[in-house]
Amino acid sequence: METCTACGVEMVAGFGFCGACGAPLLGNSQLSSGEVAFVAGSGSFAAEVADWAGAAALKVAGLVEMRDASRIGSTRYGFPVVGLKPDAGGGQVVLGLGGDRRASWDRLAAGGWNALALVHPSSSLASDVNVGAGATIGPRAVVGYGTEIAAQAIISRGALVGHHVRVGAYSTLNPGVNIGGNTTIGDDAFVGMGATVLNGVTVGDRAVIGAGALVLRDVEPGMRVQGVPAGPFEERSP
Ligand SMILES: CC(C)(COP(=O)(O)OP(=O)(O)OC[C@H]1O[C@@H](n2cnc3c(N)ncnc32)[C@H](O)[C@@H]1OP(=O)(O)O)[C@@H](O)C(=O)NCCC(=O)NCCS
Repeated sequence: METCTACGVEMVAGFGFCGACGAPLLGNSQLSSGEVAFVAGSGSFAAEVADWAGAAALKVAGLVEMRDASRIGSTRYGFPVVGLKPDAGGGQVVLGLGGDRRASWDRLAAGGWNALALVHPSSSLASDVNVGAGATIGPRAVVGYGTEIAAQAIISRGALVGHHVRVGAYSTLNPGVNIGGNTTIGDDAFVGMGATVLNGVTVGDRAVIGAGALVLRDVEPGMRVQGVPAGPFEERSP
């Protein structure tokens, strides 16, 4: 039996969603509707993530500003903006900042914040999907059976992630990507909007896949590929 963290009803595990309230049932998720959470960042993407959090029935208490001290104390997108080290101490936070996810999470952890997983209610997760701490799954994303979304990864709007995939920690799957089954996406990887990664391919740690790319073969760690079919980016000589 598994207990739904959202409504407390007990049911047979393995269906992916609570039959009583519809919340995702996640083996190790910190997701829990009704909890108070902050969103890190105070720009337009933070507003988007705050909207996702609201849809997941989290109570968004404010935005955590990490870069521009002049915003602290103001109200943005209807939320109070607090600093990295608020008087009240940290709390639960989801990341609403672009760029280097690992660096942002390191700063939040140092500021005393705890990572909260966020799964948009319109996403579809197969059973036996594992969602790590601080991972974010956006609206209309679809995640297949037996897939692991590691800690602090983001699966954005409308991303399609196949079965038995591993999405590494701190990685970003941008809107509309299509990741085939049995694929491995390394840690800190970035897959641009609409890119397709064929089944069974391994994308190395820190690799960058350009928007719209068609990735047919493994991508070495740290490498940037783009285009159809995807190939290494080479600077043109002036
Ligand atoms: C691949 C990427 C990271 C490169 O960014 P960049 O370093 O700023 O690259 P530039 O814009 O300087 O482009 C360099 C060259 O690559 C080409 N290029 C850039 N992105 C490309 C892509 N996705 N596919 C094919 N070619 C691309 C440019 O045309 C340019 O070619 P040129 O030298 O022949 O003129 C970026 O273009 C990209 O695809 N980002 C993903 C965006 C995204 O998904 N954002 C999420 C929003 S929610």
